[in-house]
Amino acid sequence: MDVDPLNLWKDTVAASVGQVLFDEKTIQDKVTELAKEITEDYVRMGADKLLVVGILRGSVLFMSDLIRKLELPLEIDFMAVSSYGHGTVSSGQVKISKDIHKDIRDRHVLLVEDIVDTGRTLYTLRGLLQERGPKSIAICTLLDKPSRRVSQVKVEYSGFTIPDEFVVGYGLDYDDDYRQLPYIGVLKPEVYEK
Ligand code: IMP
Ligand code: MG
Repeated sequence: MDVDPLNLWKDTVAASVGQVLFDEKTIQDKVTELAKEITEDYVRMGADKLLVVGILRGSVLFMSDLIRKLELPLEIDFMAVSSYGHGTVSSGQVKISKDIHKDIRDRHVLLVEDIVDTGRTLYTLRGLLQERGPKSIAICTLLDKPSRRVSQVKVEYSGFTIPDEFVVGYGLDYDDDYRQLPYIGVLKPEVYEK
């Protein structure tokens, strides 16, 4: 019998992703709400061109939806950091592996992240970028897991608060898988406990 690769992927997802926390529509509604709030704030500030900086790679889906809903002049750039090794527990070390191209002095900078967990990544990045003399820095995260916070980072825009569970989809991965799911679901513990 022929193997259907489409079904294989569906079976993999069904076997490893449990409860769906946020479906596509719920996520899009939240992104719309966040974009409206951000737009209003920067318009009120009389901000010139905003620099939206996505943290690779988890923020890519969220960022692409968010910027389409921001009614502001903006540019995009990306940074890559690593705080996670293999698995679901942070190593505690934050390393920059890709920096932004432009000078951010006197610019309004919005950092976009998929999830704030221990807070170490954004705490470190925020401090580092602050030293470069931007006009402002703000953080926008889709998800927040406050129960695991170690570094008290200020977060201006936050979508959903979630319990201490490992989630995947809409950019979030486990070992680089599941990023393409249009929803966010809980990864079954047996996947990472094996
Ligand atoms: P922090 O430095 O501990 O706040 O780490 C944030 C990073 O950890 C995020 O950008 C994610 O890449 C990763 N992370 C934390 N929790 C999860 C999760 O539940 N699913 C997928 N990635 C996660
Ligand atoms: Mg990440």
